[in-house]
Amino acid sequence: MASRPCRLERGAALGRILKIDEDHKIIFDDFRNVKLDVKADLVFADPPFGINFKGNLQTYHRTPDALSYVEVPAEEYPEFVRSLLEWSYGVLKPSGSMWLLSGWNNLGTVLNAVERSGFHILNHCIWKYQFGVFTRRRFTTSHYHLLLLVKDPDNYTFNKPEHYAEDVWYIKRPYRHGVRTAGNELPEELVEKCIYTSSKKGDLVVDPVLGSGTTMQVCLRMERKCIGIEINPALEERIREKLGLRESEDAEDEDHRRSTPTISIE
Ligand SMILES: C[S@@+](CC[C@H](N)C(=O)[O-])C[C@H]1O[C@@H](n2cnc3c(N)ncnc32)[C@H](O)[C@@H]1O
Repeated sequence: MASRPCRLERGAALGRILKIDEDHKIIFDDFRNVKLDVKADLVFADPPFGINFKGNLQTYHRTPDALSYVEVPAEEYPEFVRSLLEWSYGVLKPSGSMWLLSGWNNLGTVLNAVERSGFHILNHCIWKYQFGVFTRRRFTTSHYHLLLLVKDPDNYTFNKPEHYAEDVWYIKRPYRHGVRTAGNELPEELVEKCIYTSSKKGDLVVDPVLGSGTTMQVCLRMERKCIGIEINPALEERIREKLGLRESEDAEDEDHRRSTPTISIE
């Protein structure tokens, strides 16, 4: 769900940790710089698309209310996806799972990288959403791919969300009139379905490309521990708003590079 892409100027704010409580932390950094000293039960990752938007941003209705997020240049995308999979594989317990989301443009790159990653594909789900971008000479894109990956096909968590749990999901994108969103925000219902299916209460979920904090929001509600990593510190404002955190009185700030090179959840 792309919004306004930007290149990040590396600044002092990188490396900061927003600690919500002992079990819920957000690290503002490139996930490739972060080493966790705990193993996760689930990785949820909704990475950038890796496409260069040549279209008119106004046509895409992205300008007035979208906060920038960090896009990956198309030529770097194969290496980016490879490193995301390698990092995630390393963070997970042997029984761990990963939900990896992708648009159709780079699906080939993503599937190729998955094949080489050591993960097994358990499901390839489709999210059908409403309001795609209006088009004249091609069909409107109104779906998204969700790959359910496991390390061990004989040992993983699977809580069936419905009796006939099909792999095409019709979930509406909430339209937040007048709210300054990050533009690329997933519906909570979608993230909740993935987290419910592939984790239990008390499990640790890691989102290495957190965005506006939807995964953290869902984990707080569903009693999962969560570590989120986001490269763009400017998204903190939206994250705080979504999580109902006021200024620093509700969360402690640390710098993971100054304090400790690794991050743990007790
Ligand atoms: C598609 S958005 C995630 C949206 C999120 N699922 C939500 O509901 O808000 C992808 C996010 O990954 C971030 N990102 C890009 N490269 C990153 C990196 N190397 N490390 C951490 N985050 C990164 C972007 O800034 C963006 O916020």
